[in-house]
Order: sequence, then structure tokens, then C-alpha cells
Amino acid sequence: MNQSNVSQTNVNHYLKTKKIGFIGAGNLAQAVIKGLFEGQVVPSHQIFASNRSPGKLQKLKDQFGIQVCTSNEEVVEKSDIVILAVKPQDLLIAIEPISQSFLAGQMVLSLAAGIRMKTLSQNLPQTRLVRMIPNTPALIGRGVIGYLMNEVDPGLEAMVEDLFSCLGKVIRMEDEDKLEAFMVASSSGTGFIFELMMYWQDWIEEHGFEPKVASEIVIETFLGASLLASQSGNGSFEELQMRVASRKGVTAAGLDSMRELEIERAMRISFEKSAMRNSEMARGLK
Ligand SMILES: NC(=O)c1ccc[n+]([C@@H]2O[C@H](COP(=O)([O-])OP(=O)(O)OC[C@H]3O[C@@H](n4cnc5c(N)ncnc54)[C@H](OP(=O)(O)O)[C@@H]3O)[C@@H](O)[C@H]2O)c1
Repeated sequence: MNQSNVSQTNVNHYLKTKKIGFIGAGNLAQAVIKGLFEGQVVPSHQIFASNRSPGKLQKLKDQFGIQVCTSNEEVVEKSDIVILAVKPQDLLIAIEPISQSFLAGQMVLSLAAGIRMKTLSQNLPQTRLVRMIPNTPALIGRGVIGYLMNEVDPGLEAMVEDLFSCLGKVIRMEDEDKLEAFMVASSSGTGFIFELMMYWQDWIEEHGFEPKVASEIVIETFLGASLLASQSGNGSFEELQMRVASRKGVTAAGLDSMRELEIERAMRISFEKSAMRNSEMARGLK
């Protein structure tokens, strides 16, 4: 067994002894709970959850055997690791009244997109904090999840990655600027890709394809390109593109046009606009 296997085994063992609590039991919390249950990462009797309305909790209890809490405070008191899984606009409302219940050094992971580390630290100064940014494919285990910690701790790092690997690829960011750029690229980026997929579908439908078939063609084209890239080792996107586009050929004609029309410039401006909006929202501007 090599060194990394040893530490992974330790982390797995360590996690199995931990109590994990969720404040908010919506879509993302449900995806994590399902992943923890199916991956046998944590026994279900060590998973606790609270939610504003009770229906989702009963379903989670029936499905996975988790422990239902009647208040957010109870989750904090019973858990070693607390996952804040409410919408950003509900986060401070949820934690402010119970901030004193968090223990010194307790681990808190926030999934709320727009709430920065500084705000989290001001509200929960005694805790060890992790800010997580997943994208929507996380709901089917194919997300990319960026995270930032308020302190360097390799043990904590391994644990966060283990907890969230059920949602997809987990990547640590060194600072918040990187996390924000990551959010635009991956989280808003998912929305940008759907925009492109709509253009693809419209064009192919104009050539007589039924919407369902057109949609399948688009999905398989994007999926196939992504899978090919992911299985091409160190091959760059440019190399992969060169394999499709022969000189003066059909694909090259389209690519030349894309470059003349400055699609890259348009995309860059769109990324920057999202980044600016993100900063405005973090500063509390409407
Ligand atoms: N879903 C995604 O793909 C995705 C992707 C990226 C980031 N995120 C982030 O993940 C977080 C959760 O998103 P989600 O999609 O899971 O949202 P969601 O489905 O709306 O779940 C949020 C849950 O929080 C509960 N809640 C609200 N206020 C509460 C309070 N004070 N105490 C306890 N529970 C409370 C809500 O209860 P009710 O049942 O009463 O509404 C709801 O079930 C958000 O911060 C979001 O930004 C989600």
C-alpha cells in the first residue's frame, strides 16, 4: 500500500466515525446524502438534517434512514461537520440566531454560492470554514466542485474531497479570486453551454430534424467531444480540434468564420460580465 492509499484509508475510516449534519434538505443536500449512503461513506444513522418545511426530511428518513432534526440548532449540536445547504438568501437568516451554538473548531461547509468567506467568518468566527461551489451536474454526480478553506489543513482537505466526491470532481482553490473565476467558468459556464446547445439545436431543426432527434444529436455531440477530451490523456483541445479540421476542409471553413466573427471575444466579454455581476452581488448591490 503506498502513502496516498494509507492516508485515503485513514480519511475513510475517520469519516465513518463522524456525524454529518445538513441545514437545508433540498436538491443538493439530497444528492450528497444519496452519495454518502450509496458510497457507504458515513452510516446513515450518523447523518442529521433539518429543513424549513418537514416533507423533504420525512422522505429522506424513509429512503436512507437519516436522523431528522426539528431545528437547525439540533443539527449543530449533534454534528461534527455541518453542511449549510440553504439558498444564499436564506443562509444568514438560518445561522445568525444559532451562531453561538457552533463549537470552537467545528467544521462548517457552506454551499451558498454568493456568500463569501469573510461573511461566513464574521458570522461563525469560532469554526473551521470551507466554502464550496458545485455546478448543477453535481446533482447527477458529474459536477465539478471548487472549494476554499479558511485555514490550511491537509487532513480537512482530504475529508472534504471524500465527502463531496459523490457529486463529481472536487478541486481545491488557493484563494477566493480563483474560486470566483471557477464559479463563472463551471457554474455559470454550465448555463453558457446550454446556450450554445440551443443554437446547435435550432440550426439542425432548420434542416428538417424533429426537435427530439435534434436534441439527441446535440447532446451526443457535446458528450462525445467531452468524453474524447477526457480520455485523450495530455492532448490539448487544440490538438483534438486539429484532428477534426483538415486544412481548407469543411470544419476549417466553419472555424475560420468563427474566428473572423470574434466568437472568442464575445465569450470573454460574457465571462467578464458574469464575473462583474458576481462582484456586485457580493457587495450587496441590486
Ligand atoms: N442545485 C444545484 O445544482 C446547485 C448548484 C450550485 C450551488 N448550489 C447551492 O446549494 C445550495 C442549496 O441549493 P439547492 O438547489 O439544494 O436549493 P433548494 O433545493 O432550494 O434547497 C434549499 C433548502 O433549504 C431549506 N431552507 C431554507 N431556509 C431554511 C432555514 N432557515 N433553515 C433550514 N432549512 C432552510 C429549504 O426549505 P423549504 O423546503 O422550506 O424550501 C430547502 O429545502 C444553495 O446555496 C445553492 O446556491 C446548488
